[in-house]
Amino acid sequence: MSLPLVVAMPGNEALAGALEGMLPAVGVGLEVRRFPDGESLVRVVGDVRGRDVVIIATLDQPDSKLVPLILAAGAARDLGAARVMLLAPHLGYLRQDAAFRPGEAVSARIVGRLLSAWLDAIVVAEPHVHRIERLEDLYEIPAIEVRVDAAIARHVAARCERPLIVGPDLESGPFASAIATHLGAPWIALRKTRHGDRDVTIEAPDLSAHSGCTPVLVDDIVSTGRTMARATRALLAAGLRAPTCIAVHAVFADDVAAHLAQAGAAGLVTTNTVPHATNAIDVTEDLAVGVREALLRARHEVHLPS
Ligand code: R5P
Repeated sequence: MSLPLVVAMPGNEALAGALEGMLPAVGVGLEVRRFPDGESLVRVVGDVRGRDVVIIATLDQPDSKLVPLILAAGAARDLGAARVMLLAPHLGYLRQDAAFRPGEAVSARIVGRLLSAWLDAIVVAEPHVHRIERLEDLYEIPAIEVRVDAAIARHVAARCERPLIVGPDLESGPFASAIATHLGAPWIALRKTRHGDRDVTIEAPDLSAHSGCTPVLVDDIVSTGRTMARATRALLAAGLRAPTCIAVHAVFADDVAAHLAQAGAAGLVTTNTVPHATNAIDVTEDLAVGVREALLRARHEVHLPS
């Protein structure tokens, strides 16, 4: 069977290059440019006929990235690709999985239908799904979830003595627990109440039993940084040392470094699912495993006539 082809959307070239060696796969060129009126022109440069194509596109700030992605997938299909898959190390548009007020667009489902129409499989690291059990429930195509708790645990194990893994809210409990299990370390989840986009309050339980531990705050996304900053303050107020913060997806919508410094955090590191100066945990191998699984599943998917 021929090697899969990898297409990097703009900004994803470094990850695509690393994956080419790891999968293994062959790179295919892509040209993307904007017309003066803001429309995108996308061109796949290479012969994709009969081949599996993996598009690499991390989807932070997704509004400007979704249309070029759909155009690239459509072009690959029109050129005769056998299957077109997406590796979205970070997939945006997952938070709104219900209409909280009448008339709100349930964007997680709508974007899920859009991507399902143009792709044969999707691979996502640590998707931000809370009320939906599995990412696959949002898609009509195979949706593979890549877990990075083991990579984070290795990072912590190499740098931290007596870690206490802390999730900043109840939803982060399973993630904190998975990391702690790898380490054989204790974990806790704090209680967060969200009052607005940049306004959260966080309460810590009695932590006196953990006073000798090094707190490590872990979360899937750091966006405005308010969650990590408030959680840091709650841990310090509870008598613990300054925590190190670890997030999977470096979305960084605001000046997160300033908020964390003011709060008294010991530092912040992220994985390389979204390129950023704080990327210190390389999860490329985990992503490669997810892509291999997607290739296998898409190749063996049987479409029964309805
Ligand atoms: C919420 O459910 C997520 O897991 C994160 O805690 C949240 O997205 C972080 O957002 P921010 O950095 O804006 O507080």
